[in-house]
Amino acid sequence: MSDYLIRVLEEDEKRAAQSVFLGSLHVGPATDESWEYSGDGYPAQRCFGAFREGRIVGTAQSFASSMAVPGGAVLPLAAVSRVGVRADHTRRGVLTELMRAQLRQVRELGEPLASLHATEPVIYGRFGYGVACRGRTVEVGTTRGRAVPPLPGDGEIRLLETDELAAELPRIYERIGLHRPGMMSRPRGWWRMQLERRIALKDHLVAAVHSGPDGDDGYALYEPTMVNISPDERDRRLDVHDMHGASLGVVLGLWRFLLAADLVRWVRAWGRPLDEHVELILPNRGDCRTVELGDETWLRLVDVRAALAARTYGAAEPVVVEVHDRLLPENSGRYRVGPDGVERSDASADLELPVDSLAMLYLGDVSASALAATGRLTVHEPSALTRADRLFAADRSPNSGTFF
Ligand SMILES: CC(C)(COP(=O)(O)OP(=O)(O)OC[C@H]1O[C@@H](n2cnc3c(N)ncnc32)[C@H](O)[C@@H]1OP(=O)(O)O)[C@@H](O)C(=O)NCCC(=O)NCCS
Repeated sequence: MSDYLIRVLEEDEKRAAQSVFLGSLHVGPATDESWEYSGDGYPAQRCFGAFREGRIVGTAQSFASSMAVPGGAVLPLAAVSRVGVRADHTRRGVLTELMRAQLRQVRELGEPLASLHATEPVIYGRFGYGVACRGRTVEVGTTRGRAVPPLPGDGEIRLLETDELAAELPRIYERIGLHRPGMMSRPRGWWRMQLERRIALKDHLVAAVHSGPDGDDGYALYEPTMVNISPDERDRRLDVHDMHGASLGVVLGLWRFLLAADLVRWVRAWGRPLDEHVELILPNRGDCRTVELGDETWLRLVDVRAALAARTYGAAEPVVVEVHDRLLPENSGRYRVGPDGVERSDASADLELPVDSLAMLYLGDVSASALAATGRLTVHEPSALTRADRLFAADRSPNSGTFF
């Protein structure tokens, strides 16, 4: 690794880093048009480059965001993305050094959490990330004239004009708030890259807004598309790119609207929360097919004490948890976790686990018992396992709903 210099990029080096990232995904360099929208999403101080003989050959970047944790607190979050190493420099430890530098920076910035979306599930556990949110891709047959029973508290739906999207969707997202563990704030650069860029590229995006008694409380952003049914038959599908509501009832109200669309055969939505039971509103639950149930957000507890202290816990006697963190050793140690709070402890450990397993437990996606049964958590005091299950349980399935 001594052949590589790892450092924060200068502003005028960001585009070259973006090209390295895109190249690692087998995509051509950023065009002027796409760079106009994606360029300001990441401040230069948060973009790292790995240099060899003066050229950037690897990069990892992050932007400042925040994430909701069980109990409703919202913590500063580093949203990590644009990770890539040029194909002729891989497997020499470049990513490892980039991750090390980035985690150190996030810690110094005082952000207790970092998260990312992984292209390969085998890469990030070694850096202390664990899957903390999962999502379900569903394809639902439309009702084609059959009535879907009204939902309690059904609100009004209106469609936005295209030129309203860039102002209205961020406003409504902010209004909804980060009410589910895993939900994250979206800075302006995110909206420019994920929404305004697509509008500029003339993608056919449509937004339906839901309004309840207190005003706008949800939206679905979708794109009509034609898909093959058989080699010589095609039909229309609505692809939902972004859908949020202040409550489950609001989101199901949006589903109800989408499923009543004329001239459409299916609605497909990616990464939906596991407790969004759309099949329960259908006349025939068999019309909802789970296409995939997979990993959504990977989480890294960068400051374990601050992260543990910020969430609330279920009713149970405290447990002493010993955490191991190879990359950020200041996190290693024992923590007493209970409904009354979290503190460092000298008591002997009831449970012991690496920091990536703690990330899986943290938002409530998997239980301590599941981690123990799969060898990801060591039990020293058997009675502590049931207590930990109760303490860490979350009442909603964690889900970010934001791709970056
Ligand atoms: C994934 C990627 C960033 C890894 O970079 P790298 O510099 O080769 O990684 P390192 O050399 O630091 O490898 C670290 C470890 O991860 C493993 N690893 C890295 N990439 C891997 C992959 N794609 N599949 C499986 N293991 C991988 C290495 O074998 C190594 O393991 P070890 O520590 O046990 O020896 C690089 O291969 C890449 O750019 N891939 C394409 C783009 C991509 O997937 N980006 C990630 C977006 S989330």
